[in-house]
Amino acid sequence: MYATSQIKELQQITTQYLKHLGKYETDKLAIQKLIAIIRFHEYRYYLISDPLITDYEFDLLFKALQQLEKENPGLIIPDSPTQRVAGSLTKDFPSQQHLVPMLSLDNSYNADALLDFDRKARELAGKKEVVYCVEPKFDGASISLVYENDLLVRGITRGNGITGDNITPNIRQIRSIPLSANFSAKGIEMIEIRGEVLINKNNFKNYNEQLMEQGFAPLANPRNAASGTLRIKDPSEVRRRNLEVFLYNVSYFTTTEGAPEPEELLHHSSSLDLLYANGFRIPINEKKVFSGIKGVIDYCIEFEKTRDELPYEIDGMVIKVNDVELQDTLGMTAHHPRWAIAFKFKARQATSKLLKVEFQVGRTGSITPVAKIEPAPIGGITITSVSLFNADVIREKDLRIGDTVLVERAGDVIPYIVKPLTELRTGEEQPIIFPTHCPVCKDELYKPEEEAAWRCTNINCEAQVLERIIHFVSKNAMDIRGLGDANIRKFYALGLLQTIPSIYRLNYEKLSVLEGFGTKSIDKLKSAIEISKSQPLNRLIFALGIRHVGETTAKVLAHEVNHLLDFKEFTIEKLQAFEDIGPKVASSIFQFFDNKDNIQMLKELEDLGLSLQNEKKTHVTDGNLQGLTFLFTGTLSNLKRSEAESLVEQHGGKIVSGVSSKLSYLVAGEEAGSKLEKAKKTGSVKIISESDFLRMVKK
Ligand code: IVH
Repeated sequence: MYATSQIKELQQITTQYLKHLGKYETDKLAIQKLIAIIRFHEYRYYLISDPLITDYEFDLLFKALQQLEKENPGLIIPDSPTQRVAGSLTKDFPSQQHLVPMLSLDNSYNADALLDFDRKARELAGKKEVVYCVEPKFDGASISLVYENDLLVRGITRGNGITGDNITPNIRQIRSIPLSANFSAKGIEMIEIRGEVLINKNNFKNYNEQLMEQGFAPLANPRNAASGTLRIKDPSEVRRRNLEVFLYNVSYFTTTEGAPEPEELLHHSSSLDLLYANGFRIPINEKKVFSGIKGVIDYCIEFEKTRDELPYEIDGMVIKVNDVELQDTLGMTAHHPRWAIAFKFKARQATSKLLKVEFQVGRTGSITPVAKIEPAPIGGITITSVSLFNADVIREKDLRIGDTVLVERAGDVIPYIVKPLTELRTGEEQPIIFPTHCPVCKDELYKPEEEAAWRCTNINCEAQVLERIIHFVSKNAMDIRGLGDANIRKFYALGLLQTIPSIYRLNYEKLSVLEGFGTKSIDKLKSAIEISKSQPLNRLIFALGIRHVGETTAKVLAHEVNHLLDFKEFTIEKLQAFEDIGPKVASSIFQFFDNKDNIQMLKELEDLGLSLQNEKKTHVTDGNLQGLTFLFTGTLSNLKRSEAESLVEQHGGKIVSGVSSKLSYLVAGEEAGSKLEKAKKTGSVKIISESDFLRMVKK
């Protein structure tokens, strides 16, 4: 898509722009240039996953473009990168007919079925050998895109195959879908392209963690997450979920009068290459062309072995006749094309029997029902235990003890019960009775109205204390190896461990008399505990198990302070001003640091040698603001307030909270008010603009 010389040039312009932030020309050409480099970096990031600039730098460019467009609304073009950004909520998604029906594929499960498919194709084609293109079968939600005169005009869900929902505002949020493409260069006037929208495993996992932190049941699998997200009526929420796309078929096109049919569209594989050359994401490394079915079969079998290495879910391979004319000759049955077939990988489902349900108490007191099932082998592991998440899930699925259930485990996803097979019920099945009291401390359970989980509110409940310690030492938190669940329970029962700080006061002498605790394992444990004392602040924050604070929020928080106890001074409003922290999360953080016992515990940890400092922040990268103090007021156009403040700190400067003689610079954004007035009066404070500030930083 970009030639080497172009890459160099675009990267050069990028560097110039970043250097002269806020000082651009504001004419049409400047805007076009900025758009060109933003598109280039979107391509590097979203299409080929090989970015050349940091996210932060990308944001600076993006905001600069927003600013230029704000100043020159007449120069906004419909396919500007800023025009993905959706403002308001969508009302309804109108139905819309597909230009060509979206068919589904016939399935095959073994080599014999593929041989059969090939034999029929050869017979109908009257050929000895057929050329096939093979590519992954993406497990997401299918969509159809239409471009007219180079612009994306609509995106539609599959629907019933004939008509779907027009979800264009949401489609525009998927950053691997170009808003425009140079089809006219090939004489194409209109084109309909099919593809699959996905959420990658990592984003899916993060999203589910957030849901669970908030007491909701996680989404079953990435497929449901992708198709559910496409129907959300709030495009900015869609944007946040980071959907991705792979395009896999050109289903229709027209050419401008007199233009010949583009050669690339004569074969399936080259049509995908044409899309790729125009900035679309296709399975460029995975698609392969074979003459004859033998190579196809080998490739499918080999590919299945590596399916888990892909960052997204696939459930098989798709085999397509490569020659488009031959596709037309083969035609279709009532349901499926005769020129394509899916080769499905082994199912990751099994049936089992629901034996009983146990109720576990989490570290925040939430009660999680866990189904114990007859051992079910799925994809190489045996499953005996499946979370049911909360009471609603049990009710919605109408699960009963004794039910035969369908269990699924997709890729890295935690196993879940798809549904009970109600037709197999004998009448002996028993209802699942949710407890009214904590199974551990027997306190009465409580359910906040807006939440899905029932809770034990006794913070001294043994189960909660144990779970808090288990969470504290876990891999993504303080990562204290050697202190596994079983040991924690054992030490707790023996009175060797009572609270989080007691981890750092473990009596190793008493440990040494326990079975399995030789000098070697004690030394290992000692050193793991010692090392954990200097874990970065974000890990410690996550480890504290503050409700609604997952790994991502912990990172945001760690970035905001020099010392963990600084949070004592933060109001809910201040917390809410941080990235992605809403009222619920802010109030939970506030409550945590407003609690005397928690502060006492943190002080204790510090006395025991844990670092509560933000080491990253105190390590200044470049001290050109050394000795200077800054205060920001009004609305900044390029930077978030938090970004500006951390730039100051990174460069050795300090942020102060009010205008006084101690203040060196007041950075005044738009609509600056009383602070600006006050600073003018002092006479000693230098008042500068955001771009002046950025120049100071860059020097
Ligand atoms: S081709 C007429 N290619 O699988 C041929 N489909 O039942 C149209 N799918 O709903 C489909 N990956 O959404 C094709 N590489 C791929 C695919 C793919 C996933 C989905 C598609 C469709 C289902 C087939």
